[in-house]
Amino acid sequence: MSGNATPSSTPVKSTGLHIGDAAPGVAKKDPILVAHGIKRQFGGLTAVDVAHVEIPRNAITALIGPNGAGKTTFFNLLTGFDQPNEGDWSFDGKSLKGVPSFKVARMGLIRTFQLTKALGLLTVMDNMKLGNTGQRGEKLLSSLIPALWKKQDAEIEVKAMDLLTRFKLDAKHEDFAASLSGGQRKLLEMARALMTDPTLVMLDEPMAGVNPALTQSLLDHILDLKTQGMTVLFVEHDMHMVRHIADWVIVMAEGKVVAEGAPDEVMKNPAVIDAYLGSHQDVDLGAVTGRITLPETK
Ligand SMILES: Nc1ncnc2c1ncn2[C@@H]1O[C@H](COP(=O)(O)OP(=O)(O)OP(=O)(O)O)[C@@H](O)[C@H]1O
Ligand SMILES: [Mg+2]
Repeated sequence: MSGNATPSSTPVKSTGLHIGDAAPGVAKKDPILVAHGIKRQFGGLTAVDVAHVEIPRNAITALIGPNGAGKTTFFNLLTGFDQPNEGDWSFDGKSLKGVPSFKVARMGLIRTFQLTKALGLLTVMDNMKLGNTGQRGEKLLSSLIPALWKKQDAEIEVKAMDLLTRFKLDAKHEDFAASLSGGQRKLLEMARALMTDPTLVMLDEPMAGVNPALTQSLLDHILDLKTQGMTVLFVEHDMHMVRHIADWVIVMAEGKVVAEGAPDEVMKNPAVIDAYLGSHQDVDLGAVTGRITLPETK
C-alpha cells in the first residue's frame, strides 16, 4: 500500500445523503432505487454480485470502476434489459423484478447506452418522437384515423424541438441520425431519453467519444437534470468529470460494490486505488482524464 493513501478508518464527512459511515451498501436518507442481492452470471463468470446498494434521490451519483467491473451489466439488470440470477430491486418503492424494459421506462426510469442506439436511417426528429411513450398513433386502429393523434403528434414535435434546441441539435432535425458525429449521437440519445419525462436518468458513459468542445455543455445538461428535480446515475471513467458533478460515488470492481462515498473521499480510498491501478497506487486519480490510463513509463 502506498504511503499517501488515507486509512479506511478516517472519519468521512457527511454529504447529507447517507445515514452512518460511508461504506459499501450504506443506507441513504431518501433512496429512489434500492437493489439487494443482485447476481448475474455468464457461464462461470460472475459479472455482477451486488449485496446492497441505494441510489440517493435528486442527486448525481457516479458509478465508477475498471473495465469489466460489471457496470453496464448492472445497468442492464436495473432497467429490465437483462434479468439477474438472483436479487430484488425497487424503484420509488415499486419492485422492478421481472418488469420488462419498456415498462420500466414508462415508470420513469430511463437509461442511455454505452454504445449509442440512435436509429441511423431515421431523422433526428423521428428518433426523438420514438422516445415518447403513450403515443395514440402507435395503436393499429387509431393509427388509421389521423384526427385521433395529429394534435398529440404536433405537441410531441414541439417538445422534441425544444429539447433539440437545448442540446444544440435543432439545425439537424431533418438529417439522418447516421450523419451525426459520435458526440452528437450521445447528445441525441440523452435528449431522446428526456422525451419521457423521467425521474431517474441512467447514463452509461455519456462522455465517451464526445468532442471536448461539447463536454462542458454535456456536463451542464447533466447538472440541469438535477436542478429540474431528476436523479442521475452515470457511469464514467473520467475522474475530473466525476469530481466536478457527482454528489456521490459508488465504486464497482469484479462485480461487487467495493466503496461508496463523496467524490473526494472515495478517490483517496485504498480499495478504489487498488481496483483501478493495481500496483500503480502512486497515481493521483484526479489527474486521470479520458479512459483510465496508467502513467507512461519513462
Ligand atoms: N452478454 C454477456 N455474455 C458473457 N459475458 C458478458 C456479457 N456481458 C458482459 N459480460 C462480461 O461481464 C463482465 C462485466 O462486463 P460489463 O460490460 O458489465 O463491464 P463494465 O464495467 O461496463 O466495463 P467497461 O468499463 O469496459 O464498459 C465482463 O467480464 C464482460 O466480459
Ligand atoms: Mg460498460
